Amino acid sequence: MILKANILDAVEPSPTLAITAKAKAMKDAGKDVVGFGAGEPDFDTPEHIKEAAKKAMDKGLTKYTPVSGIVSLRDAIIQKFERDNNLKFDRKNIIVGTGGKQVIYNFFMATLNPGDEVIVPGPYWVSYCDIVSLAGGKPVVIDSTPKSNFQITAKQLEEKITNKTKVLILNSPSNPTGTVYTKTVMEEMIEVVLKHNMMIMTDDIYEKIIYDGVRFYNPAMLSAEVRERTFIVNGVSKSYSMTGWRIGYGAGHPTIIENMDTVQGQSTSNASSISQAAAEEAIKGDQSFIQTMVTAFDDRRKKAVKFLNEIQGISCNMPQGAFYVFPYINEAYELPGFQKLLKESGETSKSKFFCAHLLEKYLVAAVPGIAFGDDNAIRISYAISQPQIDKGLERIRQMIKDLS
Ligand SMILES: Cc1ncc(COP(=O)(O)O)c(C=O)c1O
Repeated sequence: MILKANILDAVEPSPTLAITAKAKAMKDAGKDVVGFGAGEPDFDTPEHIKEAAKKAMDKGLTKYTPVSGIVSLRDAIIQKFERDNNLKFDRKNIIVGTGGKQVIYNFFMATLNPGDEVIVPGPYWVSYCDIVSLAGGKPVVIDSTPKSNFQITAKQLEEKITNKTKVLILNSPSNPTGTVYTKTVMEEMIEVVLKHNMMIMTDDIYEKIIYDGVRFYNPAMLSAEVRERTFIVNGVSKSYSMTGWRIGYGAGHPTIIENMDTVQGQSTSNASSISQAAAEEAIKGDQSFIQTMVTAFDDRRKKAVKFLNEIQGISCNMPQGAFYVFPYINEAYELPGFQKLLKESGETSKSKFFCAHLLEKYLVAAVPGIAFGDDNAIRISYAISQPQIDKGLERIRQMIKDLS
């Protein structure tokens, strides 16, 4: 009996979902766990968006829709690109899917051939490498460090290119580091992309969650030539606190959209009709929610970075976007208490052991950096209340003190 396809050997279950689930199970069992694992805003979906969903149900919009999404939502997405990014698209350029994650999956299913290489700048969002592998491709990671503010350079990119390289992934603002690529750095990378006849997939899901007046930039805004080669992924999950509604969208070359429509049409078909109506209202309606949420995140971000940098053995860059901090804890790994426990545990990943110990003994759930390709760090989501953040960070400080 075959219980597992070979291709799954290259794929891991999502570590962020696993940690969130474990923290929840501990909480349900009555433990006072602080959950820094969540990849979703702690705000309720705005009322006017929920109202739009209720109206859609009352109007009977509860049936199949076109695979690529209802026309009015696709038109709203077209308007969004024009309003926010000065990019002009037609309906044939747009596809709506069940979350940004599915759009990314369908993009790679529709474009990769076996062995095609995809460049993934690290630290990277947990799912990129696994999705590329599932689609038969080969992820090629380029590492970066806090020194370069977690950004790769055009030179690093060029060094990794082979005759199999097909796509460069860009995620700005980034999960997990919060780094935001500037126009200048993007231009340098695009030069390489054009020279080597590659495509770019930009994951703009954190476009709206950006601080310090930093400007979001998508390479497609550079020129028509670059736009032809760019596939943009975005969605409503993070910007409008709609993670459970599962609506993401993609914009790109009509042939890619057509092929993605085929993949989607033979798998999930349309995204939920009710969620599509809600997403349309989110994109077209009152946008003031975003500012309220970003202002709250901004305050938490600054406090968290300050707190972490005051802990000996931890150093933390100030992220410019998203709602995560990615503190480097490699100095803490040298603490005698840590070394001793690590040796006893037999665990090879230091960040995994750090997080396991933190959860078990100090009831704080954070995601090990290794899940994002960097064992020197952990990821902390500050999309939880300030008192919870304070409590969790205080426990981390205590753990480090106890290990010293
Ligand atoms: C970088 C990045 N891209 C895409 C997604 C997928 O979001 P969704 O499928 O909810 O639209 C996430 C969610 O965590 C993310 O962090």
